[in-house]
Amino acid sequence: MIVPSALRFSLPWGAAVCAALVGPALAQEVQTVKIAHVGPLSGGIAHIGKDTENGVRLAVDDLNAQNLVIGGKKTRFEIVAEDDAGDPRQATAVAQKLCDQKVAGVVGHLQSGTSIPASTVYFKCGLPHITAAATNPDLTKPAYPTTYRLIANDNALGAALALFAAEHLQLKSVAIIDDRTAYGQGVAQVFKATALQKGLKVVGEEFTNDKATDFMAILTSLRSKKPEAIFYGGLDAQAGPMLRQMEQLGLGQVKFFGGDALCTEKLPELSARSPALKNVTCATGGASIAKMAGGAEWKRRYDAKFPGQFQIYSPYAYDAAMVLADAMRRANSVDPKVFVPLIAKTQYKGVTAQIAFAAKGELAAPAVTLYSYKDGSRVPLN
Ligand code: ALA
Repeated sequence: MIVPSALRFSLPWGAAVCAALVGPALAQEVQTVKIAHVGPLSGGIAHIGKDTENGVRLAVDDLNAQNLVIGGKKTRFEIVAEDDAGDPRQATAVAQKLCDQKVAGVVGHLQSGTSIPASTVYFKCGLPHITAAATNPDLTKPAYPTTYRLIANDNALGAALALFAAEHLQLKSVAIIDDRTAYGQGVAQVFKATALQKGLKVVGEEFTNDKATDFMAILTSLRSKKPEAIFYGGLDAQAGPMLRQMEQLGLGQVKFFGGDALCTEKLPELSARSPALKNVTCATGGASIAKMAGGAEWKRRYDAKFPGQFQIYSPYAYDAAMVLADAMRRANSVDPKVFVPLIAKTQYKGVTAQIAFAAKGELAAPAVTLYSYKDGSRVPLN
């Protein structure tokens, strides 16, 4: 603030004039707090990255409407949106950049293959990150005080799908494909272990990658093993064409299971509306919008702002940003050194759930929802 020199030495009269000059809106210092979102904004699942980014954007708008005062300063929130392209190396580079930029916290990353290496970078620079989508249990194994997850992990997702196959559908045989990523391989292993425990026979196993589009060779090989179902550990970008190719190869009656990364609103479009879509059962690590108190109203606001962009985890990304801000508010500080220890003690009524953390940053009471697709739309089964 520039004070005319004539006024500087004439307090308290000068102070009154100063306040009048700057006006009430500027009387209190304003601080800007940067919350980053990191996910794939390019590549095959950019639509899922955009969905979680939108969740953070909505949270930032809502936080700014609250006019929070933290540490005696009016606090404005700002999103820093970064693309890790689903690539582990790009993810650690982005994480280091966010450490250097001194953002206050990170919502992300979206995938396990990016979140796991990035978590070590964040730990080293003391930056908290909350993932709204990465599900590999290994993410929280190091018990970094800077790492949190707002959804169920693959131990829950893989097991729920195997139980559904064995107990509800009474299947006897299954084949497994994964994309060799930390997520795809991890969720497939959990599914396999539970399926075997429940007496299912694993009649074949094949691998692909998270850029592939042609699955004819591996599907042809599995067809000879006559599985009743295929479990795919991977993304919707591969699952869509895979379903279409199953139909082409006469596997249109084979059940199809998968975890959250293929359980999207976009899967019908990616499968070119293949009839094989009717065989899909997939699992996400949270409650459906219908089961969230206030979920329908939240979704209405999301759709108004980001029409046609909802995929899976934006409400969880929204809550992740809110949990970071809640810890800042309780610590009365936007300095990660001060507010990070309070994240573990979160008791926050979010859109998605009443949020509290268990040991190592896992969510205390995560829900799992199974979905199928009816008339080209995703519908919850529980
Ligand atoms: N749950 C998926 C992953 O962990 C998105 O990569």
